[in-house]
Amino acid sequence: MKNFYLTTAIDYANGSPHIGHAYEKVLADAIVRSRRMEGIPCHFLTGLDEHGQKVQETAERRGLAPQELCDSVALDFQNLCRRLSIGYDDYIRTTEQRHKTVVQNLLQQLHDAGEIYRAPYRGLYSTRAERFVQEREMVNGRWPDDIGEVVEVEETNYFFRLSRHREWLIAFLEKNKNFVVPAFRQRQVLEFLREPLNDLCISRPKVRLRWGIELPFDPDYVTYVWFDALVNYISAVGHGTEAFSQNWPADLHVIGKDILVPAHAVYWPIILHAVGMELPRQILAHGWWLAKGGEKMSKSLGNAVQPLDYAELYGPDAFRYFVLREMTLGQDSNFSHELFLARYRGDLANELGNLLSRLVHMVHRYCGGRFPAAGAAGEEERHLQNLAAETVRIARGFYGNLEFSSALESIFSLLKAANRYAELRAPWKLAREEGRTSELARALATLGEALRIAAGLLIPAIPTAAETILQRIGAGPVADWRNLAWSDALAGAEVGDEVILFPRVEEEDALSPL
Ligand code: ME8
Ligand code: MG
Repeated sequence: MKNFYLTTAIDYANGSPHIGHAYEKVLADAIVRSRRMEGIPCHFLTGLDEHGQKVQETAERRGLAPQELCDSVALDFQNLCRRLSIGYDDYIRTTEQRHKTVVQNLLQQLHDAGEIYRAPYRGLYSTRAERFVQEREMVNGRWPDDIGEVVEVEETNYFFRLSRHREWLIAFLEKNKNFVVPAFRQRQVLEFLREPLNDLCISRPKVRLRWGIELPFDPDYVTYVWFDALVNYISAVGHGTEAFSQNWPADLHVIGKDILVPAHAVYWPIILHAVGMELPRQILAHGWWLAKGGEKMSKSLGNAVQPLDYAELYGPDAFRYFVLREMTLGQDSNFSHELFLARYRGDLANELGNLLSRLVHMVHRYCGGRFPAAGAAGEEERHLQNLAAETVRIARGFYGNLEFSSALESIFSLLKAANRYAELRAPWKLAREEGRTSELARALATLGEALRIAAGLLIPAIPTAAETILQRIGAGPVADWRNLAWSDALAGAEVGDEVILFPRVEEEDALSPL
C-alpha cells in the first residue's frame, strides 16, 4: 500500500528557525499523526534548502564555508524539530548526493526533451528574491521589500519552456478544484495564470554564483535554487528507483502562502508534467504568523517570536497546542503573548491538567490507586458518554479536513463537560459520606474514561502530554481512533504518581516579546 506522503517546505539555510518554520512543521506533524490514528501508513519529509546566493553571502559575511554554515543551521533546525516532537521520517538536505543526482537527471531529461534552451538575457536582477524581476513589479516607482535592491544584468542563461504549458495548467486546475487548499488560494493561482508566462531562467553562471548544483550539460553554470529546491520532494523518496512508488505522488505539500505562486503551483506542476510524471495530489498553503502591528514575522524584519523560548518555558506541547488552536487554516494570525497565556492557563492548566491531577489524586486517596468499575450509568453519566462518542466522531472529521482549531475546540468541550460533571458529582464529598461507595466508583470511573478519550483525541496536537495522561491513569496506549469508544477499559487500572502537566510559570513576564 502506498504511504500517505506528506512534505513541508524545506527551510532556507541562511538564518535561524522562527515561529513560521516551527508552525509549519507542527502543522505537518499533527496532520501525519492524525492520519496514523486512522490506520493510514505515512511518510513525513522535511528538510533544508542549502544552495543559492543568500546562503553563499551569509556564509561569506560570517567567514564560513557555505557547507559549514549549512551544517550548523541544519543542527538548529533539526534541534527545533526534536524539541517540538516533530517526528519526521526523513530529513533531506539539498547538498546531499542523493539529491544532486536526481536534480541533474531531471535537468538532463528536460534538456533531452527540448524543454530547455540557451539564450542571452538582459534584465533586472534581485538578489533578495533571487530572480529576475520586471519593471511592472514596482510599487509607486519603488521596488517592494521582498525584491529590495536591483541590478541590471546581461548574461547568457538556460531557460525552461514554462510558457508552453500554461494552457495545460489552467485546464488542469479547472478540472482539479481541490489541488490547492484553501480554495481562495487556487483562485489566486488561476488569476496569476491569466497573464502569459515568461520562460523560467533555471541557471546561474558560476562567475556570479558558485554555491549550487552544476548543470549536467554545461559546467559553467549552476542550477537556479528554486528549481533545485522543489526537486527535494522526489529526490528524497528515491526518484528513479523501485521504492519511489511507495510514496510518490505526494499526498500533501504543506507550504506557506508566500511560496505558492509561482513556485509550487506553477513551476512545480509544469516541471513534473514536462517529464510525464504524476503531480502531487494536493497543496496546502497556510497563512502567516504576524507580529502585533500586522507585519509578517521574519528574520529579515527581526520581529520574530522565538519558538524555542516558548517551548522551553511552557513545554513543547503548549506551543503546539497554541499554534494549532489559534490559527485558522490558511488565514494569518497574530501571535500575542496574552492569548498564549490565556490558552495555557485556561485550556491546558485548568481544564486538562487539573482534571488529571485531581483524578489521580482521588483514585489514590479513595480507591487505593486503582480505578473502580463504573457500574450502572445514570443520566449524567449517559450524557457524558454520548458527548464523548459524539466528540470522537466530530473531532475525527475535523482532523480529516485539517480543521485543527475546531477539532481542539470540540475536544475541550468534552473536557469542560467532564469538569462540570466532577463538580456536580463532587466525589470528594461522596467519599466522606456513608454508603455512597458505588456512586463514588461510578464518578471516578466516568471521569477516567472521559479523560482517556479526550487524551486519545489530543495525541496529534500534544503527543507528549497525551501520552503522560494515558500512562498516569493506567490506560493502554491509544493507537487507532477507529476503535476509540467508551468502555470499561480502566476498571482495575493502576494510576501513576500525581503530576502537574502544565505548571504555573513564574518567569513568564520575562518573555513578553511583543
Ligand atoms: O521559502 N508565518 O524557505 P523559508 C508562517 N526555502 N509561515 C512562515 C512565516 C511566517 N511568519 N515565515 C516563513 C523557503 N514561513 C524556501 C522553500 S520549498 C521547496 C523551498 C514559512 O525558510 C514559509 O512560507 O523562507 C515556508 O513555507 C517555510 O516557512 C520556509 O520558509
Ligand atoms: Mg521566506
